[in-house]
Amino acid sequence: MKILVIGAGGREHALCWRLHANGHEVFALPGSAGIATVATCIQGDIGDQPAVERAARELGVELVVIGPEVPLVAGLADSLRAAGHAVFGPSAAAAQLEGSKAFSKRFFERHGIPTARFFECTTMAAADQAIASLGGRVVVKADGLAAGKGVVVCSTAQQAQSAAREMLEEGRFASAGAKIIVEQRLEGREVSMMALCDGKRYELLAAAEDHKAIFDGDRGPNTGGMGTVSPVEWVSDELVERARREVFDRTLRGLQADGLDFRGVLYAGLMVDAEGTPWLLEYNVRFGDPETQPVMLRIADDLGVWLLACAQGHMPDAQLRWDPRTAVCVVLASAGYPESARKGDAITGLEQFAEPSELVIFHAGSKRSGNAFVTDGGRVLAVTGLGEGLTKAREKVYAAVDRIQFSGMQFRRDIGLRGETHV
Ligand code: AMP
Ligand code: GLY
Repeated sequence: MKILVIGAGGREHALCWRLHANGHEVFALPGSAGIATVATCIQGDIGDQPAVERAARELGVELVVIGPEVPLVAGLADSLRAAGHAVFGPSAAAAQLEGSKAFSKRFFERHGIPTARFFECTTMAAADQAIASLGGRVVVKADGLAAGKGVVVCSTAQQAQSAAREMLEEGRFASAGAKIIVEQRLEGREVSMMALCDGKRYELLAAAEDHKAIFDGDRGPNTGGMGTVSPVEWVSDELVERARREVFDRTLRGLQADGLDFRGVLYAGLMVDAEGTPWLLEYNVRFGDPETQPVMLRIADDLGVWLLACAQGHMPDAQLRWDPRTAVCVVLASAGYPESARKGDAITGLEQFAEPSELVIFHAGSKRSGNAFVTDGGRVLAVTGLGEGLTKAREKVYAAVDRIQFSGMQFRRDIGLRGETHV
């Protein structure tokens, strides 16, 4: 099948890699130098909907898979569907589950999904009141999309007030921060659960655990994600069952009740408390990055068939099959990340991994310079490998990490080492 993937990051590289390995002819718009090893890259601006539609038509693709949230929230899936394409990605209306925290929190509340108590605020007076009534330990969130930076986890009322003020009065995040959510801060351990969804049914993907802080031991500022592991040892069958019943089943019923067309990935960020209750922190309406990287190494089915079936609204009446081995993904980030990202540092060592299968280097922020690759973004590479169990998978991945170099390279040594107990 001819498939067009929209996007250019590590997640899209992983999707293209899996689809290519499944024998499909893959195109990527715009793609990247890394993606070009498994797909044909098409130049273009993913914000230009007519141009994307034209590319899909001229290539004669049978399926379009949309990677990032920004084009989804802007309605790219709607305009491609209106032109007759099969699209894996939700409508703009359904993408509000990620595009507006206020929309999504109201959705969770309306449909009985466990979520932290919250207030919507547009003024500092309202925010002060919300912070006081929740006792100061709160999380302040910009309502709109903020490139993963719009959430401030606070320990004191003062911290919360200054985060709220920056968003509401000082224009941090511009219009995305004109409304904020102030919510109760939950304690527990986080896990990412993604589900393929055809609008009526869903199929859960293997759970993955992200490591968001930049430094070992979960210290330092949050990033887009410094590494992931799948499966997650502490996630029991019972927890998965509760997430199905209390989060995903209710979500699917809610989407249908609200008339929202969701054909894409529902990615739940869950906080599991000491009693094993999965609290829904947020939904993303796309594959996670870097959760997708280990998950793509473990899928033992034809991903293209599943994505097309979701796009057409009738998922196979079967279960996805999984490689039982453990996949670990370690992100190599550039100097300055997450505050900034130094570009143009030469990357060495990549040529050693010419025939990847159990060890794949996904490119996120790199570009070609002559015959070599150089850094070109915050998260540069996602080194991802499979092994029998966590220890072997980690050994394989870190042995590869140790052979790659660029000036200022940052990565965590402790991906997968949080232990097996859940809180
Ligand atoms: P979100 O974009 O809503 O997932 O938030 C980003 C990160 O902020 C999450 O992965 C959590 O680490 C943290 N977070 C969000 N909401 C809460 C909450 N209510 N309690 C504790 N931590 C949270
Ligand atoms: N790994 C976090 C995200 O994709 O938003």
